[in-house]
Amino acid sequence: MSSRFRCGLCGREYPLGRRIRCSCGGLLEVEHDFPEGLDTSLFDGRLSSRHPPYNSGVWRFKELIHPIIDERYIVSRGEGNTGLYRHRRLSAYVGLKEIWVKHEGENPTGSFKDRGMTVGISEARRLGVKAVICASTGNTSASLAAYAAQAELRCIVLLPEGGVAYGKLAQAIAYGAKVVEVEGGFDEAMHLLEEAVEILGIYPLNSINPWRLEGQKAIVLELLQQRDWRPPDWIILPAGNLGNTSAFGKALRELRELDLIDEIPRLAAIQAEGANPFYRLWREGGELKPVERPRTIASAIRIGRPVNWSRALKAIEWTDGVVEQVSDQEIMDAKALVDRCGIGCEPASAASVAGAKKLVEMSIIDPGEKVVCILTGNLLKDPDLTIRYHRGEIEGIKPHLANRIIRIEQGIEELEEALSSDH
Ligand code: F0G
Repeated sequence: MSSRFRCGLCGREYPLGRRIRCSCGGLLEVEHDFPEGLDTSLFDGRLSSRHPPYNSGVWRFKELIHPIIDERYIVSRGEGNTGLYRHRRLSAYVGLKEIWVKHEGENPTGSFKDRGMTVGISEARRLGVKAVICASTGNTSASLAAYAAQAELRCIVLLPEGGVAYGKLAQAIAYGAKVVEVEGGFDEAMHLLEEAVEILGIYPLNSINPWRLEGQKAIVLELLQQRDWRPPDWIILPAGNLGNTSAFGKALRELRELDLIDEIPRLAAIQAEGANPFYRLWREGGELKPVERPRTIASAIRIGRPVNWSRALKAIEWTDGVVEQVSDQEIMDAKALVDRCGIGCEPASAASVAGAKKLVEMSIIDPGEKVVCILTGNLLKDPDLTIRYHRGEIEGIKPHLANRIIRIEQGIEELEEALSSDH
């Protein structure tokens, strides 16, 4: 049993280590020799475990993610184990009888990033790394800060100045990361990160790190396990830096190669209209043309130069998938609807639900098909936008599903009157 790195561009092989890029500039991927006779019963058998690391919805699948790491290096907070939910309102809104949402906002720091981070930080410990760094639109920094604090590693996070939701910024500060605001947007912060890695030698835990993607494969593994290993027709996810899209494609390819699934779900990656380089690439072909000033209300996916575009494109092609875009209005309305179901998510997450609705309207998804949408982050990450939507205070966004706050003077009659009015 062994694992190695392979360049996604030229195919060159490297032993595991601190290297992130090939000498040709391509990003490295982890390649495993999986144990013989691997069967889903091994993973199902661990479902009742209450002990770390196998009570984690990532490490339960250790043989598919990081088969060779010794348990003593693993830093886990029982990540994953997130719910798969249905709701009548959601079905009606999207126009699908069988639609589920998988709520990755239920992870320890409130986003799917924890799945990649438990693996990335554990590998950092295995390598004897002392300091870690990321550039982030917020969630990666919150997750890295938390896991680095657990592992007692020095943590530096590079954030776009003024572009991060307060819930996420608060987490990064509170968990003790060195928070550095960089002039410009996420893409500028990402550029600086690559320099910091090369010149300062700090270990990066962005999704350019191949171990992050290994951990994020577990979203797909767990959702299939929750469905008794019966794949849905579609898996729909928000797309920013395209780490998840790449990880989902890799997970499905490996499961198929191991004969653990019979059918391959189609992936649908959903971008925000103002930050849509991957959508344009998919439509127009050729090389990725970056969006210089990405704009969207969903700050988590405000990315114009996604680093993982080439492997994400392979994932879409290999699964016969699609890439779609949605407007900020569609994102905020879908978010309000998900919230109203009592499930709740942050704005970027709702791109998946908005995308599902659009793909049904475009007849790309058939109303009889089974669909799982990924909700990537928790509602409490960005309370500011939620309140502004319901108050009708976001410029250019109509609060179609507003739940207005009523203000009354003291008195039971005033209360009675307020409750009798339909709002
Ligand atoms: N949804 C949320 C809530 C995110 O935080 C992100 C990415 C995405 C979707 C997009 O996922 O990059 O794999 O395509 N957030 C990163 C960050 C960029 O820094 O937290 P992706």
